Amino acid sequence: MEHLYHCWRRSPLDLGIQSACRWQPQTCHTPARRRAPLPLTAALLACERRGQSPAGDGWRPPFAPRPIRFAYEPGDVSHMPTRTSFSPFRTEIAGIPVAELAQRYGTPTYVYDSAQIAERIDDLKAFDVVRYAQKACSNIAILDFCRRRGVLVDAVSYGEMRRAMAAGYTPAGNPPPIIFTADIFDREALDFVVEQGIHVNCGSPDMIAQLGQRAPGREITLRINPGFGHGHSQKTNTGGEQSKHGIWREQLADCLYQADHHGLSVTGLHMHIGSGTDLEHLAQVVGAMEEAAAELGRSLRSISVGGGLPIPYREGDDYVDLAAYYDLWNAARARLASAVGHELHLEIEPGRYLVAESGYLVTEIRAIKQMGKNTFYLVDAGFNNLARPILYGAYHPMSIVSTRGSGERPLQDVVVGGPLCESGDIFTQEEGGYVATRALPAAEVGDLLVIEKAGAYGSVMGSNYNSKPLAPEVLIADGKSHLIRARQSFDDLIRGESIPQID
Ligand code: LLP
Repeated sequence: MEHLYHCWRRSPLDLGIQSACRWQPQTCHTPARRRAPLPLTAALLACERRGQSPAGDGWRPPFAPRPIRFAYEPGDVSHMPTRTSFSPFRTEIAGIPVAELAQRYGTPTYVYDSAQIAERIDDLKAFDVVRYAQKACSNIAILDFCRRRGVLVDAVSYGEMRRAMAAGYTPAGNPPPIIFTADIFDREALDFVVEQGIHVNCGSPDMIAQLGQRAPGREITLRINPGFGHGHSQKTNTGGEQSKHGIWREQLADCLYQADHHGLSVTGLHMHIGSGTDLEHLAQVVGAMEEAAAELGRSLRSISVGGGLPIPYREGDDYVDLAAYYDLWNAARARLASAVGHELHLEIEPGRYLVAESGYLVTEIRAIKQMGKNTFYLVDAGFNNLARPILYGAYHPMSIVSTRGSGERPLQDVVVGGPLCESGDIFTQEEGGYVATRALPAAEVGDLLVIEKAGAYGSVMGSNYNSKPLAPEVLIADGKSHLIRARQSFDDLIRGESIPQID
């Protein structure tokens, strides 16, 4: 034991900075909800003006700082995708009339526009590997679509690994087509990664030990919690001391020792600080990654920057400055590559960014009622279909499709709710459950209401609460719609249930 430890301490490249640089662990609770994400360049310039490091007080770059060269002038967003319009009136989705989709597939139904997924994939092509965090929308047709465009995949459970393989991903390869990222192995997942040779990104020391006992000789990557995090909600912040995710930064050395002890070779590092964060916070990860990488040394072959990219959900929100974000990571990759003496793969692991904007939840207004001064539009989808508003107070744009004539109607402030027997079943709510109103066109029962930008964490977080069937999913490609998940039937709902013979 002692001997192995000393061997390991000598083996990594000594970059001479291990104890010199420490950053202040910090958790940021700033609500990003009402703020447009600050473009990265602006964030960095703001830090510079304040005389602060982008990674917070106490942070020191592990290598001699080099100037970051951006491909664009600060503030120049002409290279970014054009902003989506947020009209509350809608007639079609990807060229197909919404009324036709509703007629054919019923409501509620999730509809995805494949062209928007393809565009978002293209936005990220500068990264060596785009690894789709399929938890955002794991229908096998979506996975297949991503696979055919060169996107690799992340899986967080046995089921997600099986989905990836059902969509045509091979279990092993270089770079690994599927990576299993988690904080624990349940027994099924451990058996499966061992049998199939699926690469594991370990988020706890116990995962290293459990995999090492079963499959010594494997290469692994480590998910590191850098001590800070940020998300669109505190529930999606995955860094800092209050988060269960990843290996605590200061335990990295112990984990490297443990991996070595089990004959596992650590070839990569991964950091994901939260979902729906902003570039101001994402930029802080670069320094933390460089510091951790220095501790790992020459065995490092890949770095994954995680996911977390926000998308514009509200009028006035901008797309993130991806070119600047890439430049920042590419510069870090170059510094690390020259330190370790070989090329490094740079991975990004987006979920929301790839699929959120492609998804529309098509519902029908089934009742309109007045409660004091509030007008309620009650639709046939509830939080069993889209849980983001009740969970995080998440905001989704909405539009009305009039089934009676195309004339534009005046807007009125309404509350939009669903059919569930629970008062929280409101789509226009804020964090904390406060009911808000939305300016939507005057509508009638029978009109369609579309909840937009619902492709990420929409259908996948659906449930059978109130014995409601999961909604169907439809993919539009080349002007045609394809059913990619059938609506559940009553038999699907009670499958697996049984009545025991008891008195
Ligand atoms: N990588 C890891 C390790 C993750 O845990 C996640 C998301 C991602 C990548 C993808 O993050 P994204 O690019 O989508 O932000 N249900 C919440 C989001 C939960 C995210 C969980 N992890 C929501 O509806 O906002």
